Amino acid sequence: MIFGAMSLGGEWDRNALTMDDINKSFVAIETAIDAGITRFDHANIYKFGKSEEVFGYYLSDHKNLRDSIEIQSKVGINIPFDGGNNFYDYRYDHVVGEVDKILHRLQTEYLDVLLLHRPDALIERKEFKRTIDHLFDSGKVRGLGVSNMSTSHIGLLEQYSERKIVANQLEMGLHKRDWVESGLLFNHIDHKELSVEQGTVEFCMLNDIELQAWSPLAQGIYSGRSLENADSATKNTARLVEKLAKEKLVSKEAIVLAWLMRHPANIAPVIGSSNPDRIRLCTQARDVVMTHREWYELMICARGVQLP
Ligand SMILES: NC(=O)c1ccc[n+]([C@@H]2O[C@H](COP(=O)([O-])OP(=O)(O)OC[C@H]3O[C@@H](n4cnc5c(N)ncnc54)[C@H](OP(=O)(O)O)[C@@H]3O)[C@@H](O)[C@H]2O)c1
Repeated sequence: MIFGAMSLGGEWDRNALTMDDINKSFVAIETAIDAGITRFDHANIYKFGKSEEVFGYYLSDHKNLRDSIEIQSKVGINIPFDGGNNFYDYRYDHVVGEVDKILHRLQTEYLDVLLLHRPDALIERKEFKRTIDHLFDSGKVRGLGVSNMSTSHIGLLEQYSERKIVANQLEMGLHKRDWVESGLLFNHIDHKELSVEQGTVEFCMLNDIELQAWSPLAQGIYSGRSLENADSATKNTARLVEKLAKEKLVSKEAIVLAWLMRHPANIAPVIGSSNPDRIRLCTQARDVVMTHREWYELMICARGVQLP
């Protein structure tokens, strides 16, 4: 389980961190650590850098912590200061400059893993290799991963960089099932509607690439968020999640996360809550034993249609 740090650092604005932002973020980080979470997911863009900045304050107050945790962050989404459109960017100056800023904000010497946030259509082989070589050779980055990328992207970037990609972070959950349905619906007409290509999960499993699930709680729609405008599949799934949680004496969050973790790919959910109670409820997922049949029941309920 990975703690998603996007929720840290207050509002999505370029204002300075407030004492309230810092206090709330510290409580969330501390709760995660007390609950045994040792991996933290950042991105240079989260809260325009404030998520990393506040995490850096925490690290600086807890100097012994760095060696016992893993920190990953992401680059590649270029948000121009002049307010122009965001674009994707793995040019040397942008990536190296952003990694330096990340390390400065986080108050750390290195990232355990650098994730490339989204694919860039204009990536250049030589420049990319030079960039990644610099980051590894200087000790600023110890592992390379991707996010929102296909098997072809991974193959290309491994060839360009001559480094192994260790992780792929995708939106995965009961609400976003393309990653698993693309396999289950192979050779079926519904397959063409899916946004994750068939074989992505199997490729990652075969090549020892960790799958990390972003938005694994589906923002709470199956575990307590208001369902006023939800469709019947979502309402039925929330009911089923509640029933299973009661039977297994765990939280609803635990059932939602356990559905992902039950898959043999060893998926690591990146939980996005900053609410201390909810963080603790999430960690109950480790104790859930979910049967084969329960796993399918949840998936079929969430899709609202039988499997072929
Ligand atoms: N690679 C990418 O492109 C990408 C994209 C998005 C996110 N991420 C990563 O993934 C992490 C998780 O993403 P996420 O935050 O979208 O996912 P999430 O874990 O599915 O959702 C967390 C959000 O849902 C709220 N929530 C959960 N249960 C709730 C309930 N019962 N009632 C009301 N609100 C509820 C949480 O509020 P509370 O804080 O109040 O609990 C929090 O705002 C992020 O922190 C980030 O690290 C990566």
